Amino acid sequence: MAEKPAPAEAVPAPAGAEILVLVAHPELEQSRANRRMLLAARSLQAVAPPGRIEVRDLYALYPDYLIDVAAEQAALAAAKLVVWQQPVHWYGMPPLLKLWLDDVLAFGWAYGPGGTAVRGKDLWLVATTGGPEDSYRPDSYNRYFFDAFLPPYEQTAALCGMRFLPPLTLHGAHKASEAELAAHAEVYAAKLAGYPDWPEIDSVEPCVECEVPLTARPIDNVMEPV
Ligand SMILES: Cc1cc2nc3c(=O)[nH]c(=O)nc-3n(C[C@H](O)[C@H](O)[C@H](O)COP(=O)(O)O)c2cc1C
Repeated sequence: MAEKPAPAEAVPAPAGAEILVLVAHPELEQSRANRRMLLAARSLQAVAPPGRIEVRDLYALYPDYLIDVAAEQAALAAAKLVVWQQPVHWYGMPPLLKLWLDDVLAFGWAYGPGGTAVRGKDLWLVATTGGPEDSYRPDSYNRYFFDAFLPPYEQTAALCGMRFLPPLTLHGAHKASEAELAAHAEVYAAKLAGYPDWPEIDSVEPCVECEVPLTARPIDNVMEPV
């Protein structure tokens, strides 16, 4: 019989770390893949030196969707590698991760004039899909290669001056065997442990400059009384 994964107990997080893993899964208790991956990242956190890795389970931290922006920005500012670990939902990110972007990557902080807080950091998307790899083809039901769904992530990174590292994707998570899930979690943990010494990292294109001009926004946001 398959071994039941241990409960995803939180390990006390260090105050800011080089690797910031943000996990966004709305139903982690139902998860086969992301739960294992979260546990693998947490196991690494437990043995790594202080300041090396911090794992934040966003749905556990913010069940009410009220994100502590200052805490998230502090964690982000300390990181060199930011990981977005998520199941793919409707060809994109789960809603709390989207809200995290809306709230935390603020104009004038993460992008736009004076918005340099995350510039020079690496962003790594770690995603799982229900659809198998061969469903992400023009002749199958997902119609597009999986890469076609990545530009919003890549451009979000670019707008904020972050380098977008090649994503780690597990396709067909519904049907992956226990052995495949375990192997994938191991690969994930090994990549986290080895960062930034990844063989492919030197061939990743540097981030393109995306300056948002001052004129892109109104001078002030003060609403006229109606
Ligand atoms: C609301 C919702 C939307 C989903 N949308 C997609 C999708 O667009 N493409 C896809 O391949 N799988 C989709 N799935 C399947 C999930 O990606 C899949 O259940 C998940 O990656 C499995 O990981 P887990 O075992 O950690 O839950 C969706 C699942 C849910 C619940």
